[in-house]
Amino acid sequence: MGKGLFLTGTGTEVGKTFVTALIIKKLREAGKRAGYFKAAASGSQRTKDGVIVSADAAYVSRVSGLHGTLSEMVPYVYENEYSPHLAAQAEGNPLELSVVCSRYAAIAGQYDYVTMEGSGGIVCPLRYDSQVILLEDVIKKLGLGVLIVADAGLGTLNAVTLTVSYLYGREIPVKGVILNRYKGGVIEADNRKMVTRLTGVPVLAAVPEGAGSLDMDVAGLEGLYG
Ligand SMILES: Nc1ncnc2c1ncn2[C@@H]1O[C@H](COP(=O)(O)OP(=O)(O)OP(=O)(O)O)[C@@H](O)[C@H]1O
Ligand SMILES: [Mg+2]
Repeated sequence: MGKGLFLTGTGTEVGKTFVTALIIKKLREAGKRAGYFKAAASGSQRTKDGVIVSADAAYVSRVSGLHGTLSEMVPYVYENEYSPHLAAQAEGNPLELSVVCSRYAAIAGQYDYVTMEGSGGIVCPLRYDSQVILLEDVIKKLGLGVLIVADAGLGTLNAVTLTVSYLYGREIPVKGVILNRYKGGVIEADNRKMVTRLTGVPVLAAVPEGAGSLDMDVAGLEGLYG
């Protein structure tokens, strides 16, 4: 059974998929068996044969060289670019925790390191009808630690501190922060230090615009899983 790591972000579009692809690429280039999983993806495209495909899983596969069935990596896909709970209210197919767990276990059975991407930021309802399932319920059920992807620039101290505080409030371990779109200006260099001072969580890497690789050693990366 492979070890897992959950990637959340300080918000949607912050670069979770971009960073996940670089992590999996790095592990795979080092000869490690690394796979990808995401419980629910919305805003997914329907192909000519009518199948809805997760763009995040397709991107990660393309960049990292991962060969796998996209629908196995992402059990719930919705066409509307809504929060998964709202997409499921509009389209049906509400998420079941038991399905997510069994599909995660299937991926963890195939790989040594499973990087699971969240949907949106850390507060994300996956289902909200007669049943309420939040993203954190999945993280806790799977017993995963969390890596936070944040934008490197202005506003990140607030966003990272709130995210860390929320996770600790739910007794979810936080493994580190990765600053994305890092340009190395005065604010970004200060954020790199201040994130750790304010939260106690290490900044593990800074990812520049258009990066093709992750500046982290493989052993350090492996240590985040499990
Ligand atoms: N460092 C970067 N350099 C260049 N482009 C980037 C970088 N980080 C993110 N992007 C681009 O920004 C967009 C949003 O990033 P991404 O899809 O990784 O965000 P996300 O947090 O996974 O979003 P979602 O919440 O929809 O899953 C994408 O087009 C991605 O390719
Ligand atoms: Mg994504």
